[in-house]
Amino acid sequence: MRQFSLIFLLVISVIHTLAVDKNNFKTCDQASFCKRSRSVQHERSPFEVNIDTLIVNPNYINVDLTNKHNGQIFDLKLEGIKGNTFHFEIDEKSPLKPRYRVVDALKGEPTYEAIKVTATGSDITVKCGENKVIIYATPFKLEFYQNDVLTISANSKAKMHFEHLRRKQEAPPPPENENEQNENEAQDQNQDEPGTWEENFKSHHDIKPNGPSAVALDFTFHQANILFGIPEHADSFALKTTVGNGDPYRLYNLDVFEYELNSRMALYGSIPVVYGHGHKSTSGIYWQNAAETWVDIAGTASEQNVMESIVSFVAGSRQQDAPSAHFISESGIIDVFVVLGPSPNDAFKQYTALTGSGNLPQMFAIGYHQCRWNYNDQQDVMQVATKFDEHDIPMDTMWLDIEYTDSKKYFTWDHQKFPNAVEMMKNLTNMGRHLTFIIDPHIKRDSGYFFHNDCTDRGYYIKNKDGKDYEGWCWPGSASYPDFFDPEIRKYYADQYLLENFKENSRDTGIWNDMNEPSVFNGPEITMPKDNLHYGGWEHRDVHNLYGQMQLVGTFDGLLRRAENELRPFILTRAHFSGTQRYAAVWTGDNAAEWGHLEASIPMCLSLSVAGISFCGADIGGFFGNPETELLYRWYQTGAFIPFFRAHAHIDTKRREPWLYPDDVKLIIRDAIRKRYSFLPLWYTMFYEHERSGLPIMRPLLSQYPLDKNAYNIDNQFMLSDKLLIRPVMQKGASKVDVYFPSRNGDKQADIWYDIDDYRKIERVGVESVTVNTYKVPVYQRGGTIIPRKMRIRRSAILMENDPITLIVAVDSDKRAKGTLYIDDEKSFAYRQGKYLYIEFEFIDGVLSSQLIDETASYTTKVWLERVIIVGLDKVPSSATLRASNNQATQVDIIDASKTAFTIRKPGVSLMEPTWSITLNY
Ligand code: GLC
Repeated sequence: MRQFSLIFLLVISVIHTLAVDKNNFKTCDQASFCKRSRSVQHERSPFEVNIDTLIVNPNYINVDLTNKHNGQIFDLKLEGIKGNTFHFEIDEKSPLKPRYRVVDALKGEPTYEAIKVTATGSDITVKCGENKVIIYATPFKLEFYQNDVLTISANSKAKMHFEHLRRKQEAPPPPENENEQNENEAQDQNQDEPGTWEENFKSHHDIKPNGPSAVALDFTFHQANILFGIPEHADSFALKTTVGNGDPYRLYNLDVFEYELNSRMALYGSIPVVYGHGHKSTSGIYWQNAAETWVDIAGTASEQNVMESIVSFVAGSRQQDAPSAHFISESGIIDVFVVLGPSPNDAFKQYTALTGSGNLPQMFAIGYHQCRWNYNDQQDVMQVATKFDEHDIPMDTMWLDIEYTDSKKYFTWDHQKFPNAVEMMKNLTNMGRHLTFIIDPHIKRDSGYFFHNDCTDRGYYIKNKDGKDYEGWCWPGSASYPDFFDPEIRKYYADQYLLENFKENSRDTGIWNDMNEPSVFNGPEITMPKDNLHYGGWEHRDVHNLYGQMQLVGTFDGLLRRAENELRPFILTRAHFSGTQRYAAVWTGDNAAEWGHLEASIPMCLSLSVAGISFCGADIGGFFGNPETELLYRWYQTGAFIPFFRAHAHIDTKRREPWLYPDDVKLIIRDAIRKRYSFLPLWYTMFYEHERSGLPIMRPLLSQYPLDKNAYNIDNQFMLSDKLLIRPVMQKGASKVDVYFPSRNGDKQADIWYDIDDYRKIERVGVESVTVNTYKVPVYQRGGTIIPRKMRIRRSAILMENDPITLIVAVDSDKRAKGTLYIDDEKSFAYRQGKYLYIEFEFIDGVLSSQLIDETASYTTKVWLERVIIVGLDKVPSSATLRASNNQATQVDIIDASKTAFTIRKPGVSLMEPTWSITLNY
C-alpha cells in the first residue's frame, strides 16, 4: 500500500509538470449521452402539446407534452417572473422515480408575475407584462417575445430530447405510423448501443442503474449576432460555432492539470448561462442543471463576419442563421429561465436577480494577496510580511497552502513548522494584515484523525455504488469526501471552523476551498465516479457540478458563526456553479507562466462576471513555471485592475516575491500594487454597487456600447463598472498597444476618454496605437464620471480606512460628470442595518455638489476630501468656493493647472457632511 502510494504521488507530481493529457478527459463521442443527444436529427419534432390538458393558474400554466414516437407524456410548466423573465420546466408526468432538481442555485423563490393566457386549437399564448410566450402545439416549439419582438425560441431546431426512465428490458411502444417507424427504430437502436446502460472510460466502469436519462433542448437567439457565457472555459469571450467544428463546450467541474488555451474542454466550474447579443437586444438562457452538460453552438458571427451578419439581419435574411445553443445534460429535468433583457445590463441583472449577487467583501479582501505553495513555516510567513514593509509595497493577506497542515489533515497544523499559529495570526493582525489558509474537501483516511473518525462513525462520507464509504486519492493519499448535500453534515462541517473546535484559527482568517470539483486523482477524469451515492439517494451524476458549492454553503455558515455573524466571510473557491457568488470569490485555477495565460485571464474573468461571479482573478505570475520578469510585471499591472488580486505559484517554482528581482523590476511591481491601492475607494464602491444592483464589476465593452459591432469580439479590453476602460499590456516586448475606443451609436459618436496617468484627452471612435513604457497600463476614465481615490498609500488596505479622498471629475461634452462613493466600517454586516454612507457627486455648470443617496443611512467616518482634480475643462478658474450644509462659505485654492486638468486644493470637507458644494470662480 505504502509503495503504491509513493509511486502514485510520483505519478501525480509528474502529471503536475506536464501539459494537459487530453486522454484523461472524455470527448462528446466518449460520453454516450452526449453522442446520442447530439445526433438527434428530426425533420419535425416528435413532441406535441395536448392543449386540452391546459391548466391556468395566476402565475403559471401546466400542460401535457407527448413524445409521439413512444407515447411518453411530459408535464410542461411555464411561469412569468418579474423583470422580463420566464421560467419553464419539462419533467416526466409519471416517472419511474423522481428526477433530480437543482437546489441552492437560486437565491430564493423568484418574484412571480401575473400572466394572461389565451389558447386556440393550435397554440397557447401566455402574456406577462409587455412580454409573451407562444407555445406551438404541433410540433412543439416555444417562442419568447420581448415587447412583440421574437427574441428566443426553444425547440425550433427540433433537437429536444428527453430520455424517460425505464427498466432495461422495457420494449418501446409500436410506432404510430409508417413515417415514424424508421426514426423510432433508429432511436431504439441508439438506446441499446454501448454506453447506454453502462459505460467504460479507461479503467473505469459506470454502472448507470437508472439507464439513459439525458435531457436536451435547442435555443435560437433571433436578435443576436454573438453568444457568450457558459464559463468556465479557457477560450474567447464570444463563443465559437461548434456544430461541424469539433466538440461542444463542456460543463463538468474538473481538475485539469495545465489546462490548454482556446479550448472548450471543461474546467473547474460550470455556469450554464448563455447570452445572445445583437444591436437590437440582449437576452439569455439559464439552463438549471447540475449534471454533466455539453453545449453545441451554431451560427455565431466570427470576428470577420459580424458586419456581414448585421447586414443580412438588416436585409431581413437573418432568421435562418440566427445563433443557437443546444444544451445536452446527462440527467435531471429541463429547467430553464429565459431573461429577455433587452439591454446587456438588463439581462445580467435579470440573471443575478435569480441567483444573487456577490456580498460586499471586507476591504482587506480587495487589497493585494500574497500566496505561494508554500510559505514554509511561521518564520517564513513573518519574514515575507515584514519585507513588504521594508520595500514599501502594500499587502493585505498572507496565504498558506496545504503544507501548513499536519499531513494534509485539514483543521490541524504542522506544529514543527508552525509552533504558534495563533501568535503568528496575531502578529499579522498587528501589522494590519490577514491570513488565509486552505481547507480542501478530501479527508485523510487516518484512524488517528478526529474528522475521519467522526465521518466514518456517523456515516458522513459519500458512498460508492455498493453503499460503502467511497475512497479516492488526493493530496493526503487515501481520502474520503463528506457529503455536503446533507444539512446535518454541512452543520458538522461548519462547526469545525468555530474557534471552540479549531483553536488555531481566528475570527477573521480567510478560507480557501480548493480541489472541490471534487478532484480525485485516481477517479474517472480525475473526479468522482458518477454512480457514487449522495444524501437523498441521488447519484453523483445528478449533482456533480454542485458539489463544490455545497461545501461553500457549509464554509460560509461556519465563518459567519465563527464571528457571531458580525464579520463578512472571505472565501476563495476553485469549483463553482450558478449562485457561487453568494459565498465566495473564484480564481481561474492552475494557469501557467505564459503570455497566453495572462491574455486568457481577461475573457475568463469577463465570462464569469456576466455569469454572476464578479469577484474573479487569475494567479498572478502564472501557477506552473517561472515567469520571465517582463511577464511577471505585466501580470501585476493587469491584475491590479481585476477584482481578485492574488499572486500564487506552484511548489516547484522559484520564489517570486517582488524584492527578489532587480530594483527596476521591483519598482514596477510596487507601482502596480500601489496604483491598485489608490483606487480602493472606487473598488469598494463598485463591490457595493454590485451587491446592490447585481451588475458585474468587470464588464465587456458591449455592456456599455451595445450598438458598436466592432466591440462585440473585443476581449483584451474591458470596463470597470461604466467608468474605466482598461487595455492591459499582455504582449512580450510591447512598446505600443492598440486600444479600441468604442462608439455610442454604432457609428462615429464617441465618448470622451482621459488617460488616468496624464489626463490626455481622447475623443474618437476606433483604434489608437498607444505608446507604452515599462510602467504604462493604458487605462482611461470615461468623460462624464467622477472617481474617488486615496493617494496616501499605506502598508495595507485596512490602514487606509480614515485617509482622505481625492475626487477625479472627468467631464463629458456637456462639461458634466457624476459619480458615487460608498463608505462603511469595511468589515462588518452593520451596513445591512443602515450603518453606511452612500454619496452621489455631480458636476454641472461649474459646480460640484454632494448629497446622500440613502438619506436614512448614516455612518461616522473620519474620511475627508483632500483634493478635487477636474479634468477636461477649457478654462482654469481663479479660485473655488466651498459651501457646507450650513451654507457657510470658504475660499479654496486652485493649483497644478495644466492644459487638461487643475486641482482644487484641500477643500477639507468631511464626507459625513450630508450636502456640500464647490463652485468654480472665474
Ligand atoms: C491545486 C490548486 C493550487 C494549489 C495546489 C496545492 O493545484 O489549484 O492553487 O496551490 O492545489 O494545494
